[in-house]
Amino acid sequence: MKFFVDTADIAAIKELNDLGMVDGVTTNPSLILKSGRAIAEVTAEICALVEGPVSAEVVAEKAEDMIAEGRHLAKIADNVCVKVPLTWDGLKACRVLTDEGRKVNVTLCFSSAQALLAAKAGATFISPFIGRLDDIHLEGMDLISDIREIYDNYGFETEILAASIRTVNHIVDAARIGADVITAPPSIIKSMITHPLTDKGLAQFDADWKQTGQKIL
Ligand code: G3P
Repeated sequence: MKFFVDTADIAAIKELNDLGMVDGVTTNPSLILKSGRAIAEVTAEICALVEGPVSAEVVAEKAEDMIAEGRHLAKIADNVCVKVPLTWDGLKACRVLTDEGRKVNVTLCFSSAQALLAAKAGATFISPFIGRLDDIHLEGMDLISDIREIYDNYGFETEILAASIRTVNHIVDAARIGADVITAPPSIIKSMITHPLTDKGLAQFDADWKQTGQKIL
């Protein structure tokens, strides 16, 4: 499973990237707002830091404008992946940009029907939003299973990029289902390491080691 980080925070990306844990990055207009930086500048910086795809989202409504924005964003670096919304205009832009050889991430997916359309439009990635479905009392994870089944039935190569990840369980469940990628805030990825029995065990080993009076170095 590939790990993308869902942030435009350079320091947070760098910290995980130095551990070899970052296979890509996703951003969106809300994350650009949060960064307080210009999209071109922060995207260029992320692309220089990370080898994998870096999603940068278009904001136009019409396909031709999305295509123009996508081509412009793609000039920032070779690893820019153009992110388009799951609308008919977004899918038209997806088809054109994909045919030009660009990577395209189709975002704001909330149904398997939408995911099927994105695959037909040649999307590199489909981004189903788990947390936002959970927010309205639906089972976000069911969408990941449904898309996995449908894509596998027909051998679609579009990668399932599980997004709107809010918990460690979201990551583990998406991994069990076989999502190709998760994108999560760095804080959630970092909290994957936490287990009380690890802390307890370490405290015990530390106490016992002190009693031996030994040193390794
Ligand atoms: O990748 C999509 C993600 O940024 C949305 O997450 O938590 O705002 O639903 P959230």
